[in-house]
Amino acid sequence: MKKFKDWFLEKKAEVEKVFYPQIIDEKMLKNRHYRLRNGQELDLHIGTSLDVENIMEIQESAYGGRAPWSRLTVYNELQNSQSSFLLVSKYGEGLAFIALAIRKDSLHITNIGTKFSYQKQGLATFLIEEATRIAEKLDLKQLTLEVRVTNTPAKKLYRKLGFKDSYIKKNYYHDSGEDALEMYYQIK
Ligand SMILES: CC(C)(COP(=O)(O)OP(=O)(O)OC[C@H]1O[C@@H](n2cnc3c(N)ncnc32)[C@H](O)[C@@H]1OP(=O)(O)O)[C@@H](O)C(=O)NCCC(=O)NCCS
Repeated sequence: MKKFKDWFLEKKAEVEKVFYPQIIDEKMLKNRHYRLRNGQELDLHIGTSLDVENIMEIQESAYGGRAPWSRLTVYNELQNSQSSFLLVSKYGEGLAFIALAIRKDSLHITNIGTKFSYQKQGLATFLIEEATRIAEKLDLKQLTLEVRVTNTPAKKLYRKLGFKDSYIKKNYYHDSGEDALEMYYQIK
């Protein structure tokens, strides 16, 4: 009986690790829904290993067919106890996501994207605002991110939300050798 109990608890821990990433739990989310201007209500949920395809599809659409993260990277990030995804979806279809990881005393936005046909409707803003609340709850001091120096829409979004320029990371991106701009949002 004891053996079975140990086996059960071990399996339970494994399953929970796959389905419930550890840095965010449901209680940290403030808004579970987002309403578009046309009144349509979208859902917010924490990414699980069932969202790999959703995240790949959002990436393909957001980045014009050049998903920066492979399926394996997405899967590994979903399993990583120091990172989490938030997704906005409609009837189970992923429309936007944000990927977050804890780095020292900051919450780092490691990836963010909105499906092309849903862009400019506030979804990334909504996700970053939720991430800010999560960082506060985790008692972290900053939100940080890197952005390609040429990514004008993303820089405009971050600046609009109060992010400040930090410094340039030379030749940061392997594909093009492009520089990255490190940005931060001070929470306290
Ligand atoms: C950057 C991105 C995530 C923004 O998503 P979104 O859901 O459209 O963002 P929002 O609707 O919340 O936009 C808020 C603000 O961001 C800025 N913005 C967003 N898209 C923009 C665009 N195409 N051109 C200029 N500014 C833009 C604007 O200031 C906008 O405010 P406004 O609507 O009042 O003008 C989206 O364009 C995307 O998926 N891009 C490809 C992936 C990417 O570059 N990710 C960032 C990696 S660092």
